[in-house]
Amino acid sequence: MKELRKEFPNVYYEERRGKKTLFTKNTFKKNDYRRWDSERSKLCAAILKGVSQIGIKEGNIVLYLGASSGTTPSHISDIVGKDGFLFAVEFSPIMAKDLVFLAEKRKNIAPILADANKPITYSKLVTQADVVYQDIAQKNQSEIFLKNCEMYLKPGGFGLLFVKARSVDVAKKPKEIFMQVRKELEKEVVIVDYRELEPYEKDHCVFVVKKK
Ligand SMILES: C[S@@+](CC[C@H](N)C(=O)[O-])C[C@H]1O[C@@H](n2cnc3c(N)ncnc32)[C@H](O)[C@@H]1O
Repeated sequence: MKELRKEFPNVYYEERRGKKTLFTKNTFKKNDYRRWDSERSKLCAAILKGVSQIGIKEGNIVLYLGASSGTTPSHISDIVGKDGFLFAVEFSPIMAKDLVFLAEKRKNIAPILADANKPITYSKLVTQADVVYQDIAQKNQSEIFLKNCEMYLKPGGFGLLFVKARSVDVAKKPKEIFMQVRKELEKEVVIVDYRELEPYEKDHCVFVVKKK
């Protein structure tokens, strides 16, 4: 097991026949490395696709939108470590139930049952964040992301927006959607990296951005 790179703290890898498998070092269990499944986590896919940075460091506060049952949040909880914290927003009560169980085991996660489209509704539950991470399949994905960055992201903080083209418009080509999202983002934030996620995720991309 080897450390990946200093840009990806607490992320390790094994390589077999030229194929990398990623792991995160478990914050809550000694000498435990948790396998990171690229089929179930777009952040893992983005790293394997060569994204230069993800902006998430030890001790960071992360606002995570679309936390689902907590697969990727659990790995980010390893990356930020015991001094970091993750506010995990999810609007499906069924998924949020699993998040509650996860948060019982991982003390640096707070589950929040809320709609990311209405960031004002959780203003009393979250703080300013070093990173805003979004992975939700909604038509107005970039609008939701920018609203949350405006309200909760610290100046100079990083944002990660995972875009599912088909949710924005099924009739348009994914590349057109990605270009449209890029233009919307460029008005508000600085884009520092961009990757399409195939073959891990079809018609998905990620934008890594920095708040001015
Ligand atoms: C693709 S899944 C996220 C998977 C998760 N990010 C991971 O990698 O482990 C998208 C999640 O976003 C949630 N979601 C969709 N729209 C939302 C909204 N407006 N507010 C909060 N959560 C939302 C869905 O219920 C779903 O659980």
